Amino acid sequence: MRILGIETSCDETGVALYDSQQGLLGHRLYSQVALHSEYGGVVPELASRDHVRKLLPLVAELLSECGLEKQDIDAVAYTKGPGLVGALMVGACTGRALAFSLGVPAIGVHHMEGHLLAPMLEENPPAFPFVALLVSGGHTQLVRVDRIGQYRLLGESLDDAAGEAFDKAAKMMDLDYPGGPLIAKLAEQGEEGRFVFPRPMVDRPGLDFSFSGLKTYTLNTVTQHAQSNGLPDDQTCADIACAFQAAVVDTLVIKCRRALEQEKLNTLVIAGGVSANTLLRRRLESALAKIQSKVFYARHEFCTDNGAMIAYAGCQRLLADQSDGLSVKVTPRWPLDTLEAC
Ligand code: KG4
Ligand code: ZN
Repeated sequence: MRILGIETSCDETGVALYDSQQGLLGHRLYSQVALHSEYGGVVPELASRDHVRKLLPLVAELLSECGLEKQDIDAVAYTKGPGLVGALMVGACTGRALAFSLGVPAIGVHHMEGHLLAPMLEENPPAFPFVALLVSGGHTQLVRVDRIGQYRLLGESLDDAAGEAFDKAAKMMDLDYPGGPLIAKLAEQGEEGRFVFPRPMVDRPGLDFSFSGLKTYTLNTVTQHAQSNGLPDDQTCADIACAFQAAVVDTLVIKCRRALEQEKLNTLVIAGGVSANTLLRRRLESALAKIQSKVFYARHEFCTDNGAMIAYAGCQRLLADQSDGLSVKVTPRWPLDTLEAC
């Protein structure tokens, strides 16, 4: 079965073709980062309009790159939620209409299930059961995964998501959006140990997170060291980025280890934009090796939003005989643990 995957939940237009026998055939991504950068964050209406402009040309490019025609598509999977309602509607309406015109089934996919399953696209995929750390711009969750669709929430952020904290810290130092990769890059020049930021909620039992206190701590540090232009000098910014990143990463590592021990599992999957963070990957690898556990993640381009993860997740559900009717529905708020098992 050959599935077209469509991702439009936020500011990336992603499309991919996945074949249940041959694997990923190809994928294309258009990022709206430049469009939103002057606003310091995603402007929902601009995002929807840009998806309208870019989606069908991207599908056409993808098909021609793969040497295929529209008629070669056996099913369509699109992101149904969570996400920005207008942006989701573009992908859902287009995907549903395309499937109807081709006379093939369509399925709405949960965006975070897409992220969670993205490491399955790699050569050495993780085996069930495992603990997943979902860390994106909108979510920070620890989930027990027994099989596709069988998810139990173990803990989550009580306030900001990890990616959101990275983005806000970046904004404090006048860095562009999205700030995660820029903070990570700046941190490379930072001096470790000049600042030590708090590791929120690690001394309390449980698996929930909170990043708002760390955000305030970062803002106070930036303000204390600000010069006449309102910003600390370049080296101080790098030192702050380094301390901030270390605090977020340490917090995530401690909770992941705790979750594996609690669930008596030895496989961790990290997914979502923040799972692209090199320090997080390195620290998890060494911490988990000590408890005979292993961490799995997707290649960089499939950590952030993309069409391949939606095509893959949709394929698994279609193979389990699930599909959606003709009405176009999106679900901007959608808890992961309400999904049906495959
Ligand atoms: O999964 P994603 O592309 O979109 C959402 O579903 O939210 O995640 C985007 C988030 C942004 O907050 C971005 O700053 C963060 O992932 N991010 C990173 C890195 N790359 C992306 N955060 C830390 N380090 C990175 N290398
Ligand atoms: Zn995402």
